[in-house]
Amino acid sequence: MKDIDYKEKIYLDKLPKHVAIIMDGNGRWAKKKNIPRNFGHKAGAKALQKILKAADDIGIKHLTVYAFSTENWTRPKEEISGLMNLLREYLKQYLKDMDKNNIKVDIIGDITKLDKDIQEQIEKIKIKTYNKTGLNLHIALNYGGHDEIIRAIKKIGQDLLDSKINIDEINKDVFATYLDTKDIPDPDLLIRTSGEQRISNFLLWQIAYSELYFCDKLWPDYNENDFYKAIYEFQKRNRRFGGI
Ligand code: FPP
Repeated sequence: MKDIDYKEKIYLDKLPKHVAIIMDGNGRWAKKKNIPRNFGHKAGAKALQKILKAADDIGIKHLTVYAFSTENWTRPKEEISGLMNLLREYLKQYLKDMDKNNIKVDIIGDITKLDKDIQEQIEKIKIKTYNKTGLNLHIALNYGGHDEIIRAIKKIGQDLLDSKINIDEINKDVFATYLDTKDIPDPDLLIRTSGEQRISNFLLWQIAYSELYFCDKLWPDYNENDFYKAIYEFQKRNRRFGGI
């Protein structure tokens, strides 16, 4: 039987503005194949390339992907350095291929904890892709929702001490301007692969009214049609934002 082509079923005038993805299952994918976990991450990076193109092709404006969390530092040293090297390679390759696509890259998370060369590479890529007009790719690196909120509170505290803001001015919209996502609309759709159904400290403030979509496939197996299916399912949902 021929698979359903979900791309054909999507309404292009009803796209989510922002899709966030928890790319889960790299480790289990590798385990099933009896190969080291870092091979799973490598395959995960390839899957990400496909999804970026798929998102850009239909005109999604924002895609945020969870690449390394504040909690991922507790993984074995070998896995962490594998992930960091993969990131180096990924960013390098991205710079090389930059002219082939129209994707603008930025990072959310506390990158001051990453190695200096990675921070420099990130700066370079942000500057070089700044004028791109297609998909905005936000890579979450050393990102945690709790950490982001605490950093925002510290910045507000400092602005209060410096009399740059008055305590009565603080409301949810003002608070949001202190978050890493200050220039990004909240996600309309959050996808998590691998069958796990949890948020894992991702975009805690921003997903208040996001539609959640869970898919059983492991991230390295996730493909364009799976992504389009998630958007198709999203378009069937009735979003009420607390109203009726
Ligand atoms: C979760 O799978 C995935 C990660 C912690 C890393 C995600 C990274 C990539 C997809 C690599 C590509 C990204 C860039 C930007 C280089 P897991 O390891 O927790 O899988 P498991 O739950 O099966 O063990």
